Amino acid sequence: MTDKINDLLRRVEEFDPRTVAEIEDFRIKVLGKKGELTALMEEFKTVPAEQKRELGQQLNRLKAAATERINALRERLRDAEAENASHIEDMSRPGSAEQLGSRHPISLVRNQIVEVFARLGYTVAEGPEIEDDWHVFSALNFPPEHPARDMQDTFFIEKNPDILLRTHTSSIQVRTMERQKPPIRVICPGRVFRNEAISYRAHCIFHQIEGLYIDEGVSFADLKQSLLYFAKEIFGEQAVIRMRPSYFPFTEPSAEVDVSCNLCGGKGCNVCKGTGWLEIMGCGMVDPNVLKANGIDPDKYSGFAFGMGVERIAMLKYGVRDLRLYFENDVRFLHQFDSAL
Ligand code: PHE
Repeated sequence: MTDKINDLLRRVEEFDPRTVAEIEDFRIKVLGKKGELTALMEEFKTVPAEQKRELGQQLNRLKAAATERINALRERLRDAEAENASHIEDMSRPGSAEQLGSRHPISLVRNQIVEVFARLGYTVAEGPEIEDDWHVFSALNFPPEHPARDMQDTFFIEKNPDILLRTHTSSIQVRTMERQKPPIRVICPGRVFRNEAISYRAHCIFHQIEGLYIDEGVSFADLKQSLLYFAKEIFGEQAVIRMRPSYFPFTEPSAEVDVSCNLCGGKGCNVCKGTGWLEIMGCGMVDPNVLKANGIDPDKYSGFAFGMGVERIAMLKYGVRDLRLYFENDVRFLHQFDSAL
């Protein structure tokens, strides 16, 4: 009989129900009128008197253990079931708010600019951010030791100054000329790096879009007309441009392009510093030395190039006052551009 008692005790201890109903079945099977414990109680009546004391204690311990375990299990499962049920029943609970992301203003403006030039027949070209001296400087008519290299504060790799982070995406134009014969019409968006102190108007990482057009008979008038079309598409039909003479090693002649200030309509405000004009890019006719260095015959072909900062265009278009906002990824700032999609 001790074996039977111990066996039942073990089963009580190992009992691991999933539902309250399962516990009730078990309770009836063990403690019910026709249950196993009741049967053992019956059997107990027939045991010899000298065993009664020992077996009686065993049976009492079994009964107490079974009752206690069943009650405890029932309580635990009831709590869990009640909790589950309340999740299902309370349809009025507020849903968890999923915050949808939005496109970064830099991506938005870059895409807009790329689309404008795509309509003029330009295709997108890309290139590496880690470059060599040839693609960033030498092939673009920057002679060694030429002070023009200081126009762009460059991040060099200390152990090998031939390797550097590109300071402009003109390097992609060089890579395109290596691969492709004219006519060439590419737009080169990408990240660029300059060793500049971070402030509201400068950052050591920013985005550029440069363009290159080479064919027979490409003129400065073509350049001016293309950029006027660009300015009207980005800043509105009322926009006009002006060009001021400038210098870049890779273009001759070179110019700085201004667009009429769209915030004050040209009257003069604090963004355009009272001039009515905003500087938006550099441009010029590709220097014959650059064509030669890249295996293109300057007697047969001519071309123009231009380059702009995406952050700057986005600042002027949306009136963003601090360049650092683009890099902080504060959703309160980023969500303001949702509607610009
Ligand atoms: N590469 C020049 C810069 O980064 C921009 C530029 C491109 C100017 C093409 C003229 C022509 O400052």
